[in-house]
Amino acid sequence: MTNEQVEIVKRTIVRIFPPRPEGSSEMIIQRYEKAKTDAAKAFGAVFFPRLFETAPEMKELFKDPDKTVLKFAETLPMLFRSMNRLHDTLNTMQELGVTHWKAGVKLEHYQPFLSALLWTFRTMMGDEIFNEDVAKAYVAVLSRICGIMCNAAYPEARGISDAETSQAS
Ligand code: HEM
Repeated sequence: MTNEQVEIVKRTIVRIFPPRPEGSSEMIIQRYEKAKTDAAKAFGAVFFPRLFETAPEMKELFKDPDKTVLKFAETLPMLFRSMNRLHDTLNTMQELGVTHWKAGVKLEHYQPFLSALLWTFRTMMGDEIFNEDVAKAYVAVLSRICGIMCNAAYPEARGISDAETSQAS
């Protein structure tokens, strides 16, 4: 994962999850909260059908997808923004890995989840924006995040390699 790949991911993810606005007035915050919720719902409407179609066994893990997607849509861009200063969020990612393990997520769930995620990003951004370099950047950054989560949650694992998550289709 290079700094350039992190920048690519940070620059493009705002097309799906709106960036935090500059101002802090109540109106700006309210508008942002609404845009954030709408974006999370729009993402969930593409992601979950794809995930459950390609990995139906995953359905039972998601007790409340509508709620989960709101948290996911908040957490993922936050992690992306922090990838240049990993030490700040290392703990968060490790804890997230353990939380997932407690929620019943297994190591083998990561690959289908990532494939559905990459497919969703490509579908929502379109091939022009989500081109080969952008896809590679997402694979690199997501592999790093999931590698940290998995190493914390499954001590026997050595993380997820780029090759294992490179199936964006
Ligand atoms: C990119 C890495 C991931 C991030 C950033 C992420 C983020 C999150 C967040 C923030 C939550 C909510 C936790 C809470 O309630 O406090 C969550 C829940 C959950 N995630 Fe992930 N996740 C990731 C990968 C995965 C993977 C690979 C799976 C595999 C299936 C997964 C399955 C779940 C499940 C089952 C829940 C709980 C859902 C529920 O109770 O309804 N996540 N995730």
